Amino acid sequence: MARVVIDKLVKIYPEKTGPGFTAVKGINLEIEDREFMVLVGPSGCGKSTTLRMIAGLEDITNGEISIDGKVVNNVLPKDRDIAMVFQNYALYPHMTVYDNMAFGLKLRKFPKEDIDKRVRDAASMLGLEELLERRPKALSGGQRQRVAVGRAIVRRPKVFLFDEPLSNLDAKMRVSTRTDISKLHARLGATMIYVTHDQVEAMTMGDRICVMKDGDIMQVDEPLDLYNHPKNMFVAGFIGSPPMNFFKGTLARDGNHVVFAETNTKEAPFKVQLTDNLAAKASAYVGKEIVFGIRPEDAQDSLNLSAPTPEHTIEVNVEVSEPMGAETYLYLNSGEHSFIARVRASDRFDVGQKVQITFQMDQVHLFDPTTEDVLK
Ligand SMILES: Nc1ncnc2c1ncn2[C@@H]1O[C@H](COP(=O)(O)OP(=O)(O)O)[C@@H](O)[C@H]1O
Ligand SMILES: [Mg+2]
Repeated sequence: MARVVIDKLVKIYPEKTGPGFTAVKGINLEIEDREFMVLVGPSGCGKSTTLRMIAGLEDITNGEISIDGKVVNNVLPKDRDIAMVFQNYALYPHMTVYDNMAFGLKLRKFPKEDIDKRVRDAASMLGLEELLERRPKALSGGQRQRVAVGRAIVRRPKVFLFDEPLSNLDAKMRVSTRTDISKLHARLGATMIYVTHDQVEAMTMGDRICVMKDGDIMQVDEPLDLYNHPKNMFVAGFIGSPPMNFFKGTLARDGNHVVFAETNTKEAPFKVQLTDNLAAKASAYVGKEIVFGIRPEDAQDSLNLSAPTPEHTIEVNVEVSEPMGAETYLYLNSGEHSFIARVRASDRFDVGQKVQITFQMDQVHLFDPTTEDVLK
């Protein structure tokens, strides 16, 4: 069992002058036994600081961290039963792969046979059997990172911590090592906390994802809940690639309906009709400013629709067309705002051409422009 509970956790880095820099602002997070929790957010948002406090490598300014109900604030890193894997593998260059993996166990005076079994088990899980006698410099980046993971596995810790372990690998290696770590999680059934700035890694690996910004938690949810129900504009814009399109505008009543009109000074602003469901959520915003969000895949071009609904369709210019193979990203312009639609690769448009784009209105997200929170 290894349940990690973070309670009102604060980290203030002291400064020579002034009150210090608050890198983590009183966050609460519960990581369940055997869960794969991903901390994701832009560089500098406090992910590593949080992870290092869990590991015991960084003092806690305020709040508590407990593992299986026991507060560990004052427990030494080596006594926390945690193993951490970093971006830079930090292997001992003069030792073989075998000895790199065995080293921590030797220090802890494990019996030789036990060490041998653990190292060989880990090597077989990670496909490193053939490389045990090599030194790190004779390994690829991906292999080195697997050795670093192996070194963590042999300890059989309660909790694995990963800090951007794939960042030094090339794109292909990142994808294969990513799936290896996911398989390992399934096989070991261990609690894992994984830090990354890459939303694709977060989406593909996490049982749950904790999105951070400026030392705060923005949302904690399962990947698809995060994608489909972002609580605010930050999460909506951070998760998903290309990101969600945002339009500023106002809501107005039109007969029985509510329409969104883009704020647009240069040309005639576009107008689209909201679904009844959205209109109900947004009733307090009629006559006021609002932010309209739609993901690129929820903006369809007219070639792909047999009967576009005019009240949900706008006419825009094609600025750039990026064929991705399986689909095409259309960079579009509606006067003031640029936005992106993901369309079928077979739907071809020329730059400068006018195109009809229909929004899937049941996929629209509306946000308060001041709080940036989604309308509930
Ligand atoms: N030792 C330190 N002293 C002062 N500030 C630090 C220190 N370590 C990190 N910071 C600052 O704390 C913030 C969070 O850093 P970090 O946790 O490393 O972010 P992340 O891992 O999300 O990129 C950053 O603004 C960073 O500059
Ligand atoms: Mg970091």
